[in-house]
Formats: sequence, C-alpha cells, structure tokens
Amino acid sequence: MSNAEIGLIGLGTMGSNLALNIAEKGNRIAVFNRSPDKTDAFMAAAGNLKGHLLPGKTLEEFIASIRPPRPVILMVNAGAPVDEQIVVLRKLMASDDIIIDAGNANFRDTMRRFKELEGSGLTYIGMGVSGGEEGARHGPSIMVGGSPESYARVEKVLTAIAARYNDEPCCAWLGPNGAGHFVKTIHNGIEYADMQMIAEIYGVLRDGVGLAPKAIGEVFAKWNKGKLNSYLIEITAAVLKADDPKTGKPMVDVIVDSAGQKGTGRWSVIESQMMGIPATAIEAAVAARSLSAMRAERAIAENLYAKLNKARSLGDPNSLIDKLEHALFAGKIAAYAQGFAVLEAASKEFSWNLPMSTIARIWRAGCIIRSQFLDTIATAYEENNGLASLLVAPAFVTMMQAATPALRHIVARGAQDALPLPALSSALSYFDSYRQACGTANLIQAQRDYFGAHGFERLDSPGEFHGPWGGIQ
Ligand code: 6PG
Repeated sequence: MSNAEIGLIGLGTMGSNLALNIAEKGNRIAVFNRSPDKTDAFMAAAGNLKGHLLPGKTLEEFIASIRPPRPVILMVNAGAPVDEQIVVLRKLMASDDIIIDAGNANFRDTMRRFKELEGSGLTYIGMGVSGGEEGARHGPSIMVGGSPESYARVEKVLTAIAARYNDEPCCAWLGPNGAGHFVKTIHNGIEYADMQMIAEIYGVLRDGVGLAPKAIGEVFAKWNKGKLNSYLIEITAAVLKADDPKTGKPMVDVIVDSAGQKGTGRWSVIESQMMGIPATAIEAAVAARSLSAMRAERAIAENLYAKLNKARSLGDPNSLIDKLEHALFAGKIAAYAQGFAVLEAASKEFSWNLPMSTIARIWRAGCIIRSQFLDTIATAYEENNGLASLLVAPAFVTMMQAATPALRHIVARGAQDALPLPALSSALSYFDSYRQACGTANLIQAQRDYFGAHGFERLDSPGEFHGPWGGIQ
C-alpha cells in the first residue's frame, strides 16, 4: 500500500517528534527504525495520530509504503550512520526519490554526499533543523540546502511543520548543496556563544554578588521582558528557579560543571578560521566548554593558586545588575555580528548567495537562539544591502554605543575580581579592535620582515618594502 506522502527513518527523540508533527499537519507518514522495539513504542504512544502513521517492519516495506516520488527524511546520528543509510536506500529507492538529511551533519559531508549522488537519479537535500524536542514536535526552524527544484517538491510539508513568526513560516531554501547544514552549524556556534555569555553573567551574580539561584532566576526573568527577550534567557530563568526533587536543593547546584559538546560549535570555529573570519566570542565559548570538561585539573589548579584568592567587591548589586543586562546585550551583538560575518564569507567562498535577512527571519521562532533581536538583524540586512558587518548598521551602532560602557565595566571588574568572562571579554576586544582604524599589526609586519624578510607595505608609498634590520636577518 504505497500511500504515505513522506517517510522518516530514525525514531529517536528528534525523529519521533518530527514524525508526529508531520502527521498532525494531516500528512500520512511512513516511519522506520532499525530496532523495531522503538517503532512499536512510538506507535503505542502516538495516540490519535496513529491513523496517519505507517510503521514499516523492514526497510523494503517502509519504502513500498511511500507514494513515488518518495521524500524520505533521515533523522539518524550524523556521520557514518548517514552514509550507511544512504548506501542501503540507494538500492531500494527509485529515480526521482528524495533523501533529506535532517540531522546535524557537517556541511562538508553533505557536500560530498551531493557529489556522490550526482547521476544516481536520486535527489538530495541537506536540512538543518533547530528547536530541540519541543521544536521538532510543534514547529522547528528549518534551513534547507539543495536545488530549488527539490525544495519546491517538499516545500508544502516543510512550511506546514515549521514554526511561525507573525504567521511567516520559519523555513526557507537557503542555497545549494551544503548551505542548509552550514547555516545550522553557525546557528549552533552562535547558540554556544549565547549560552556561554549567559553562564558568565550567572557566574558574576553567583560568585561576585553572592545571589542564590532563585534570585538569579528572577533577574533573568526580568531581563526576558526587555531587550534580551529570548528563548535562552527564558529557559535560564526557569532552570535557575527549579529544585532538585531528590535533595530539595536548587537543581543547578547539583549539576556537575562540565559541559558536553557534539561538534557543531567546534565546526563553526574551524570553518571561520579556515576562511580567515574572526569569530572570537564563538571560539571562546567552544574553548570554555573544553576547559569545563577538565574538572580534575581545575581542582588541582584551584589549590595551587589559592593564595591569589581575595575578597570580591563588585559594589552595589542593583547598579551592577543593570550593567550586566547591558553588558550581555553588547556581547550578544558582537557574537551575532561574528556569526553573520562567517555566513557572509561562506556565501562567497561556496557561491551560495545566502539570503542573510531570510536567515535572520527563519531564526526568529522555532530555533534555540530565537529572539526578538533576530527581527532587528533581519531589518538591518533588509535596509542595508551588502552590509559588511552588523556592527556598521546604523541601528547596531546606536545599540553598541549605549551598551558597550557596561560591557567594559563588567569585563574590567571581572578581571579584577578573578571572575572568568572568556566570551564577554573576547567580544569586547573584538569590538575594540574592529573599530580601531590604526591597530598594532604594523609591529607584527616589522617582526615578520625582521625574521623572515616577508616584506611590508608603507603608509607613504605603494609597493613592497623591507626594513633597515641590517645583517641580523
Ligand atoms: C538545536 C540544537 C540542537 C542540539 C545541539 C546541542 O538547534 O536544536 O542546536 O541541534 O541540541 O546541537 O549541541 P551540543 O551537544 O554540541 O551542545
């Protein structure tokens, strides 16, 4: 019975929720999971959506239950499992069928898969999906990479399941081949920076001001009503107010301070470095997660340097809390400017012609970094064609002028009182370097010429020159 409109392989958390979302929008969807127990459990929990779901016992049965040309979504772990699945599907699928990888794939793998499938008759789509479990179930943000023709074939179902912002679906075709997965990777890089900066502010409120988790949660809840309004601030407030059912202590106080990472943050930094685009706040956030994982070493070092500890004096908590809000906002602007600059560079490097304002628009709802602020970014790109950086858009100049003094104050106090602020301080340094017409690289050039005769340009005449370093070279 081949009457499903679409199929989905991989009934993990994201896959199950996406399948239910697709079913709820009135589509018949075939589902398959390598271990049949998972399929049974999924069906048992599907409630009144069961009628829209066609579980396959075998991959052959699954494929046969989809109406050709078949769109099949893969929601399996990124990496080798995707390649293995494609090998098997190639044998079962027919010309014109579409494989849609909706996992957190490395865009370089996606580019390779596009090449490998060229001439096979099969169509490939690399699709970034953001929003976690809730998003997958009720409306994620969807970033599509592939040919516009293949997108046109699945657009209806994808826009139906996507989140909505002012009734606009948060789903778009962003460019060919790896574009969708690249944009998702940078989304995650920004997500890392956002989360790290929030954690740094939490650190100041906990260790500098001495507030308890619930009180800090109140601060974040208040900020969520202002310019920092966003999903990540909202959940930070909720997390800080929650208690551990086992001990009754604040939940956050019983969680080990060692953060995991699956790779997308790191990829975003690797790719920005490869293109020579500074994304320092994102780099700092990735490095901070790595350092957080070195727990045993940190404990030893704390003892070794105990003599350096001194009483912290961050002054009047109320005025400090106001400054923290502005500081976080300034840091956030710098981090987003960096992320969007990486997107801009990749757009040129891979000839994707990425639609920057559309990217900002489809991140306004559904995804993890969703916020009001993304609407401001979308407008900046709409109003300023070919914007070199968000930092030069008039609205952002005004916002940075207002917020940077607080960021400077907080970073300075953090340095004085040994409160680590790696992402916020790198955001500030980036901003200060970016707005400095005359920096200090003249000295780097002189050094390079001194030890390696690399040559330099002069301010007063064109061409390449060498310095008067004499015979020392
Ligand atoms: C999203 C998230 C999602 C995933 C992160 C977690 O946009 O929905 O980014 O894709 O939760 O990749 O990544 P880490 O495990 O690296 O923090």
